[in-house]
Amino acid sequence: MTEMTQDVSRFDRIIDRYERSEESLLAILQDFQREFHYVPEEGIRRLSEVMWVPASKLYAMGTFYKALSLTPRGRHTIKVCTGTACHLKGAAQILETLERELKLKRNGTTEDGEFTLECVNCVGACAMAPVTIIDEVYHGQTRPSKIMDMVKKQVGG
Ligand code: FES
Repeated sequence: MTEMTQDVSRFDRIIDRYERSEESLLAILQDFQREFHYVPEEGIRRLSEVMWVPASKLYAMGTFYKALSLTPRGRHTIKVCTGTACHLKGAAQILETLERELKLKRNGTTEDGEFTLECVNCVGACAMAPVTIIDEVYHGQTRPSKIMDMVKKQVGG
C-alpha cells in the first residue's frame, strides 16, 4: 500500500460512516477535527472528490465554524478567558505564565503537538474569574503559580 493510499484511507474510514449527502459534510469535518485535531488539507481534497463538492466550500466551512481548525492543533487545548472580569482578576498573568512555561505564543501550538493555547472572550462563568479551560474542563480562580500544576494534573505528566 502506498503512502498516498494510506492517507486517503484514513479519511475514507470516516467518510464511509456517513450518507453521501451535503448534510453530512459538517459532521465529517467535525470527525476529521476530532481524529486529527484539525482538518487536514488532504482530508478536504478527499471529501471534495468523494462528495462532489468544491473544496472552496469545505474551506469556507472550516473557516466559519469555530470548532474546526484548518491548522494543526495540539492534543490538548488550553483556553484562557480574557473577558473583562477575568482580565481584572489577572488573566494576563496566567497567559504569560503558560506562554513562558510551554514555550509558545497565544494561539500557538507547542512543537511536540501537545498543547494549543488560546485566548477566548467571556465564557459566561465570571463568578469563577479568572477562568482557564483545559480540554473543555472549566477551572475557576486560577492562579499563575498553580496553573502548570493544574495542567499537569489534568493531562498527566
Ligand atoms: S470574563 Fe471570563 S468568564 Fe466572564
